[in-house]
Amino acid sequence: MTPPALPPTVAAHVPTGILIDGAWRPAASGRTFTVSDPGTTESLFDVADAGSDDALDALTAASNAFPEWRATAPRVRSELLRAVFETITARTEDIAALVTAEGGKPLAESRAEVAYGADYIRWYAEQAVRFEGLARRAPSGTNHQLVLRRAVGPALLITPWNFPIAMIARKVAPALAAGCSVVIKPAQLTPLTTAYVAEIIRAELADRGLPTGVINVLPSASARSISGPLLSDPRLRKLSFTGSTEVGSALLKASADTVLRTSMELGGNAPFLVFEDADIDAAVTGAVQAKMRNAGQTCVAANRFLVHASVAEEFTAALTVAFDKLVVGHGADEGVTVGPLIEEAAVDRVQEVVAEAVDGGARVRIGAERPDRAGYFYNPTVLDRVSPDLRVITEETFGPVAPVVTFGSEDEAVALANSTPFGLVAYAYTRDIGRVLRLAESVDTGMLGVNRGLVSDASAPFGGVKSSGLGREGGEAGIEEYLDSVYVAI
Ligand code: SIN
Repeated sequence: MTPPALPPTVAAHVPTGILIDGAWRPAASGRTFTVSDPGTTESLFDVADAGSDDALDALTAASNAFPEWRATAPRVRSELLRAVFETITARTEDIAALVTAEGGKPLAESRAEVAYGADYIRWYAEQAVRFEGLARRAPSGTNHQLVLRRAVGPALLITPWNFPIAMIARKVAPALAAGCSVVIKPAQLTPLTTAYVAEIIRAELADRGLPTGVINVLPSASARSISGPLLSDPRLRKLSFTGSTEVGSALLKASADTVLRTSMELGGNAPFLVFEDADIDAAVTGAVQAKMRNAGQTCVAANRFLVHASVAEEFTAALTVAFDKLVVGHGADEGVTVGPLIEEAAVDRVQEVVAEAVDGGARVRIGAERPDRAGYFYNPTVLDRVSPDLRVITEETFGPVAPVVTFGSEDEAVALANSTPFGLVAYAYTRDIGRVLRLAESVDTGMLGVNRGLVSDASAPFGGVKSSGLGREGGEAGIEEYLDSVYVAI
């Protein structure tokens, strides 16, 4: 039996309005949109549908709050973030239920996401008091140079649906730590968790007598009606976006007129390399993790399994057995390990690329079908004998599909890995440390997982090269995205 999508105790505390200057209110237009559970397709909440007037009000609140927030002592900003971390951690079960209800992922994964998101907040609570400038005598000897770090200004944060708490946490935490005020546009499909977390931050700000316009939230069914007016307004000084390369590229163009600082965390097409000397059992465990987190709907999901021909059958057979053990179902059901995709269009797309692969000669080892139940489900799928020019290889599938391609040499593996415009992450299984160092030099990605299926960590710089984006989130680098340098010649 499918359990209730959201416990009533949590449902009672989810804000459904827009947050501007410390108050939740309806959209100026009075419009709402519906948020649904992808595991049942049933409606969860009607949420205020912010438009351009609301967007400008939110930016006004963020601009007004900015000078005071930038001048607030770093220790005060740090302690606020630490308190938010504690509250989120204490409410893990409630937030995880919300993540599962609106995003679909199994509860165990949602709990892991809450911990991952909270970790960004803790990390930037620690970093808020640590960003450093520079003081030195100029090489000419004629004067001194002082380099100060200063918050860039009000920031627009646009987040995706696949990690409703982690993605907002890793933008909002460095922004607030640096002294920026923010306007958040959460994903239309999953705005509830953001609202819940924003309320925690709002309450902490208010309780401490800090400016409440520091955080503003604009759920909306039309991203353009928010980004359009804000990106052309010179009061906005920063944009951070996570989502598709197509949308990121359009946002970059729209940011050009005001020469906006931007960070872009965009699409991926991660290769998962299994060399002939790999520990195959470990590679299969890592493959399941790298592929099946959030049912394959992550930008760091392994999209292509590139396996040395001599171990390809052993790896593929073991991966098939591992996928067979996965349990597909509603994320709130006990024992479920693979939840639904986010919407019907996502299932349609996965079905389409798998059908094209099969038509192109791929062999189905398991899956390649939609289970007979309500919700947007697709069964874990392994394909082999896949030609590398098929869309299941060349495009980000964003679903539970593992296509296996074979290679004969390290050079060929690297050439295949790099044969994409994307460069977010790669994974490699090998026992050869020399090879690891060669791959770190030759594989064109911002991140490399070695004998691991997971690289994400709040304390590390997450981000890509090529069409996968600009800038880094997390680690020491993440706060740099929200700071300017001011050089003073004395
Ligand atoms: C993403 O899919 O955009 C982020 C995944 C992660 O942080 O691990």
